[in-house]
Amino acid sequence: MTRIAVIPGDGIGNEVTEAAMHVTEVAAAAFGIDVECQWFDYGADTYLKTGVGLPDGALESLRDDFDAIYLGALGDPRIADMAHGKEILLGLRFGLDLFVNHRPVKLLDESLCPLKDRTVEDLDFVVLRENTEGAYVGVGGIFKLGTPDEVALQEDVNTRKGVERIIRYAFEYARSHRRKSVVMSDKSNVLRYGHDLWQRVFEEVRVEYKDIESWHLFVDALAMQIVKNPAQFDVIVTCNMFGDIVTDLCAVLQGGLGVASSANLNPQTGVGLFEPVHGSAPKYSGQGVANPLAAILTSQLMFEFLQYHEVGAAIENAVRRSIVEGQVTRDLGGNLKTEEVAVAVAERISG
Ligand SMILES: NC(=O)c1ccc[n+]([C@@H]2O[C@H](COP(=O)([O-])OP(=O)(O)OC[C@H]3O[C@@H](n4cnc5c(N)ncnc54)[C@H](O)[C@@H]3O)[C@@H](O)[C@H]2O)c1
Repeated sequence: MTRIAVIPGDGIGNEVTEAAMHVTEVAAAAFGIDVECQWFDYGADTYLKTGVGLPDGALESLRDDFDAIYLGALGDPRIADMAHGKEILLGLRFGLDLFVNHRPVKLLDESLCPLKDRTVEDLDFVVLRENTEGAYVGVGGIFKLGTPDEVALQEDVNTRKGVERIIRYAFEYARSHRRKSVVMSDKSNVLRYGHDLWQRVFEEVRVEYKDIESWHLFVDALAMQIVKNPAQFDVIVTCNMFGDIVTDLCAVLQGGLGVASSANLNPQTGVGLFEPVHGSAPKYSGQGVANPLAAILTSQLMFEFLQYHEVGAAIENAVRRSIVEGQVTRDLGGNLKTEEVAVAVAERISG
């Protein structure tokens, strides 16, 4: 029995999660895999009612009682500071020490790429974003708030342990997935302390992986190279903030936020958290227009990491066929509603 904790969250998170879970159940049944989904109402509505984002004991239960956690999206205009999102999403990423944010960049059909003359072979790499440190740890403060002399400090935390484990993971991932190269990206020419650590650790670790080609790019050069020549990349490893930004750029090259998936992982401790890259897109909430493919491809990623490779391949193949046959939402040029896309993908798995 494979147990999945499902947190649809807010806004379009609800619609795309319904869609993805439909595909998940159909795909599991098609391959005779026993999957049990338990749904949790963690999100803005519950937070506004109770003041609690992630209840006491939830972290431990999600860690110990489930094989995977599936999250739709968080974000609600009624909670401007995203307090519930920090508690739930950052709470899970930090609390479960999910230090790898794995974001595949894969073009499923040439028609989706805004770049000229790019084939599906040109866009097939992975961004590994450090997920527990950097500017996202919330260390800092404000001095003389609301005055003309106001000072805001936001610390960027880089630890030896944190930097080394994500860089090492990138090389291990490349080796085990027959990827030829690893590119480490930072801004060490300006961030002379934090990213100097990234430089030194990268130089130390890469010599242990002589079978993997590796080089460094400053993040501004990386952004340019991703657009100019994406085919050169296999595995990109970078810090929390740069990974966040660069993967939105990558998402657009694959067809937009509506098709970009991600996994938060700790290979040592087990349970992973799987979520589409996009947020809750409040302006589209409840209209049935959200593209569920990012959420469905997130389910594919979940099956891959649970070692059900044939299920993952079947989902990817069905998504590709749906795209080619125009069975998509309006952001990809189609006219189907969210749930109709899920039905179309599911039919291409079971039929
Ligand atoms: N991991 C997360 O849960 C996460 C990630 C990003 C943003 N957020 C939150 O989501 C809320 C909205 O943020 P935002 O508007 O900056 O980002 P967003 O990803 O929600 O939406 C940005 C735009 O991308 C497009 N888009 C995104 N997902 C789509 C989909 N499935 N189908 C079709 N189009 C899609 C829409 O045009 C949308 O307006 C905020 O509260 C933000 O903090 C949450």
